[in-house]
Amino acid sequence: MSKRIGILTTGGDCSGLNSVIRSAYLRATVLGYKLLGIRRGFRGLAQNDMLHPDYIELNDDLCDDTMLIKSGSILLSDTKWMSSEIQAGHTVEDVKLSIVDGYRQLKLDGLICVGGDGSLKLLNELTVNSKELKVVFVPKTIDNDVNYTDYAVGFQTSVEVAVEAIANIRSTAKSHERTMVVEVMGRDAGFIALYAGLASGADVILVPEFKYDMEKINDRIRENFQNGKNHCIIVVAESVEAEDFKHSEREVNGVIKYTHISYKGIGHYLAQKIKDAGFECRSVTLGHIQRGGETYINDRLLGTLFGVEAINLISNGTFGKMLAFSDNKLKIMDISEVVKKVNATLKMDDKYINAARDLGVYVGEF
Ligand code: F6P
Repeated sequence: MSKRIGILTTGGDCSGLNSVIRSAYLRATVLGYKLLGIRRGFRGLAQNDMLHPDYIELNDDLCDDTMLIKSGSILLSDTKWMSSEIQAGHTVEDVKLSIVDGYRQLKLDGLICVGGDGSLKLLNELTVNSKELKVVFVPKTIDNDVNYTDYAVGFQTSVEVAVEAIANIRSTAKSHERTMVVEVMGRDAGFIALYAGLASGADVILVPEFKYDMEKINDRIRENFQNGKNHCIIVVAESVEAEDFKHSEREVNGVIKYTHISYKGIGHYLAQKIKDAGFECRSVTLGHIQRGGETYINDRLLGTLFGVEAINLISNGTFGKMLAFSDNKLKIMDISEVVKKVNATLKMDDKYINAARDLGVYVGEF
């Protein structure tokens, strides 16, 4: 029997979203299903601020093979809708109802949500209250902070982008015999910093999970120069804190969990501290370039796998699931279970933390 399925991308974008959309479309087409691409995430599905849902019917032209490579999302993504609706005076419950209304109006047999931890929690709340909403969740985030999956779509491309950038930064660091601080993204989680730092041969890697000592960082710079390495590379995650530095700002107004946070430049702050200690130092913030870039092969494969499986689950009538990839296997998790565990963060016994330490990289926690 033919089905009408919706797909949307929510939260911060990343490279690999279009790979998921393409493969979901191709698999849906093989099964004779129609796939509707809902634009701007939940905003597009909701009813309260527009006359009808905002969607496009996916087709061969939109979902051609270049989608495997293209970063961004052809469906667009919205990160502020929930908080702006609340600021406009709507209750959280009204906003949630408007999402379910949109789903009902589109007469969907299932919805694929490609999102991060915030969307996962929202979907869990929505599906607890409404049995009508039938969802399959595909984890994506450059932060890689979703539990039960080794990788979320987009993370590996962002590491690749950061590694390429650090290689360029190293060449100038060498020519000028300087210390360079490279700030990478990572909201509350240091996965990008650790993976990109280790893969780039950084001397210091700072992540929000572990405390650090400024003196140890300065010692490390000094040792580098004493030992004949004429430069030093420090990779720091944007969410790393410092005692006398306000590292982030949250949007004012709205319900706290739906408001947005932006980071304020710990990289620049650290570089200043290093200069104050007498070293020549510059800082670079990689920022949103980590969300773009030609999709790296592993993300093309992961996106393809998740897109196909999401449609297969809906075809079998299996809902309320998150797709995961761990121990080299595709896994299917209950959304209600995944949300019980707080976001994934780095642990002291992480294999890459141990490897970094064994190599003499300073990773903090004194
Ligand atoms: O969550 C993904 C992420 O890229 C974080 O690493 C970063 O802090 C945040 O999004 C940036 O969000 P925005 O694009 O809204 O500035």
